[in-house]
Order: sequence, then structure tokens, then C-alpha cells
Amino acid sequence: MTPGSRLIVAIDGPAASGKATLGRRLAAALGLPYLDTGLLYRAVGRRVLDAGDDPSDPIAATRAARALAAADLARDDLRGPAADAAASRVAALPAVRAALLDFQRAFGRTTGAVVDGRDIGTVIFPDAQVKLFVTASPEERARRRWLELRGRGFDVSLARVQADMQARDEADAARATAPLRPAPDAVLLDTTTLDADAALAQALTLVGR
Ligand code: DC
Repeated sequence: MTPGSRLIVAIDGPAASGKATLGRRLAAALGLPYLDTGLLYRAVGRRVLDAGDDPSDPIAATRAARALAAADLARDDLRGPAADAAASRVAALPAVRAALLDFQRAFGRTTGAVVDGRDIGTVIFPDAQVKLFVTASPEERARRRWLELRGRGFDVSLARVQADMQARDEADAARATAPLRPAPDAVLLDTTTLDADAALAQALTLVGR
């Protein structure tokens, strides 16, 4: 880390890999602000759905991304099957990603930050001092998301959750703009058999704390 530069921890990985839990706890441990960038895409998707538009429509989705406000991120309907699907669709649109770029880069500019998403180490903060790529087996990730959805009152089958998650992972990894992939200098952290405390301990070691 060069003198005077702020610590940016970039965390990327597929859905339900444990990156948001890790990001939140790592930020608290380091005294840094935390940004879950998936919420930005979820909130854009929600705005598009509210307007009665198609999340794959670049004009409608870009309009929603440009209009995004802090209150959108505090909505309580950003998680669930409809929000998952809409977020994945708007996230594939280059103009939506471009509209959200400055906000992400400005976040934590003066303080440093822990930021999680799909393209944080590759596109948003390619110079981040610490990059983690968090994974877990597809079965374990589906199980976690299924438990989360059930906890939120959604009546969905595990098989359905796993199939939907696989389709969205493939879309996130195959899209032309900012596909999900580890940065060449990212450290891989597999949380399949780790609980939240063990994942945090490993991450703190990687950060050098
Ligand atoms: O992390 P999440 O499941 O909340 O992300 C929701 C969707 O947004 C998912 O399809 C991936 C996409 N996303 C993205 O393309 N880039 C990011 N930096 C964060 C999320």
C-alpha cells in the first residue's frame, strides 16, 4: 500500500458464496464502510419492475439506474426470486453498469472501503490492495440461498433455487461486459466448509491483520 492511499478490499464471487456476510464483518473489523454492490443492481431491477418495464430493455433500465437514490437501497423487497431475476437482467446491460460506475468508485474514496460484487477487483477497483474471490460449491450455495428465501417466507424448492442460481451464475459469467471472473491477483477463498467466523479469520490473515 503506498503511503496515503486508502485501503480498498475488493470481494467478488458468485451468488450465496458468503461474500456479503464476509464483507460486512470484515468492514466492521477494519473500521471501514461496506458496500454491497449487488444491492445497486437489485434496486435498479426493482425500479424497472415498478415502472412496468422489461429489465432487459436498455433504455428503461438505464433510466432507472440514473434515477437511483439512497432510499432505493433501503427497500425491503430487494431479495427474492423476482428481484434476483430482474437484477441479473439489468446487470448484463453495459449502459446500466456505466451509470453505476462513478458511485461505486467514489464510495470510500476518502476513508477506504470493503466493496463486494462481481467485477470489483477487475473493473471497479483494479488497483485494490486486497482482492478476494469467494466461492463455495454449487450445492452449498443453493442450500444457503434456499434457507435465506425460506426465512423470508418464500415457498420455493431447493431444486428450483439451485437451477435458477446456476442459470444466473452462467449469465453473470458469460456476459460481454464485466463478466464474473477472479482478478488475476485475487486470492481464492472457498467457504464451502467454513462458517462465518472461520471465513473472517482467513480474510483478516490475508489482509494482514
Ligand atoms: O450479489 P447479488 O446476488 O446481490 O447480485 C445481484 C445481481 O447483480 C447478480 O445477478 C449479479 C449482479 N451483480 C453484478 O453484475 N455486478 C456486481 N458488482 C454486483 C452484482
